[in-house]
Amino acid sequence: MKSILKYSHHLLEEIITPGETVIDATCGNGNDTLFLSKLVGETGEVLAFDIQEQAIDNTDQLLVENHCTNVSLILDSHANIENYLTEDLRGKIGGAIFNLGYLPKSDKSIITRGESTIKAINTILHYLKKNGRIILVVYYGHEGGVEEKNSILKSVIALDQKQFNVLQYGFINQKNNPPFIIAIQKK
Ligand SMILES: C[S@@+](CC[C@H](N)C(=O)[O-])C[C@H]1O[C@@H](n2cnc3c(N)ncnc32)[C@H](O)[C@@H]1O
Repeated sequence: MKSILKYSHHLLEEIITPGETVIDATCGNGNDTLFLSKLVGETGEVLAFDIQEQAIDNTDQLLVENHCTNVSLILDSHANIENYLTEDLRGKIGGAIFNLGYLPKSDKSIITRGESTIKAINTILHYLKKNGRIILVVYYGHEGGVEEKNSILKSVIALDQKQFNVLQYGFINQKNNPPFIIAIQKK
């Protein structure tokens, strides 16, 4: 069985094609941004968001080291994602990933929050291509994590099954609030 990280990437690999525009909604140290950058290739584009300068700098460094030039790094909340999506991208976004929680080895009080995460999800859903996916890696062991997890689950469970498939993937015998995946696919 694939680990949470491997499976989150697998779910993106299955549907993203070179040349597409994709989104890393929480770039952090840039690992998912780098993965997406390689998937879409030189003719594609990654829009990578974070609210912390440290995260943008860390991601930038990783991308430079890997000679990636197809990423727009955006120091802003993913709640404002609509400001960065042009009309011609409607129905064209290949996929998006959210890694929820706090920046590893950094300030644990700066965390993703249910309200802004849900706002971003709902915006991206309008721009996703047919069969495009939003992947959420839900970490919730930290303070504030359970509230975010519960509000997101409530929101995605209510998505119309005629328009979206919503999957949950996780290891149910692991202790200490193990992360799990929510994947939303546009039909
Ligand atoms: C778990 S980390 C992401 C890890 C990253 N995917 C990686 O590969 O290193 C979560 C990130 O979300 C960022 N974040 C928190 N609230 C945000 C928001 N509203 N918009 C964008 N990023 C946010 C944090 O600053 C943090 O860097």
